[in-house]
Amino acid sequence: MRLEVNLNGSSVDFEADPTTTLLDWLRSRGLTGTKEGCGIGVCGACTVLAGGRPVSACLTLIGTLDGETLLTVEGVAETDPALIDAFVECEAMQCGICTPGQVMAAAAAKRAGVGAAADVDSEIREWLDGNLCRCTGYETIIAAVRTYLER
Ligand code: FES
Ligand code: FES
Repeated sequence: MRLEVNLNGSSVDFEADPTTTLLDWLRSRGLTGTKEGCGIGVCGACTVLAGGRPVSACLTLIGTLDGETLLTVEGVAETDPALIDAFVECEAMQCGICTPGQVMAAAAAKRAGVGAAADVDSEIREWLDGNLCRCTGYETIIAAVRTYLER
C-alpha cells in the first residue's frame, strides 16, 4: 500500500504493509525514541501524536494513517526542547521506558491549552492517566510537566 504522512514536519511517501503497527514502522525508520512497554495499549509508553491527539502506536495500524500528521518524541526534541529540558531538570525518569510517552502526553496537554487553570496538577494527572510508570512514583513527572506548562 502506498501512503503519505507528515512525520515530524517532513512529508514521507512510502510503501508499507497496511497491517504494520505505527510503533514497528517508526522504529524500522530508526525513530527508536518511541518505546514498546506492554504492546497491548495499556501502558502509554508508545504514545505519539496523530493529528495532535495522543495515540498508542502499538495498536495503530500504519494503513489507517494516510495523510495524517505525526509527531514523535524526536520531533518534540527538535521543535520544543523546553519539554525535554523540564524532564531532565526535574529528574523525572529512572529506567526511561515510559518517558517518551509521558513527554508526548505533555505535548498533547500543552496543545489542548492545559496550564491556565488554578488546579493544574489535577489536569496534568488526567492527561497522564494513560501513561504508566513502574519507577518514579509520578511526583517528579508531574513536576516536570508543570514546569514545562508554566514556561
Ligand atoms: S506499548 Fe503501546 S500502550 Fe503499552
Ligand atoms: S521511569 Fe521507568 S517506567 Fe517510568
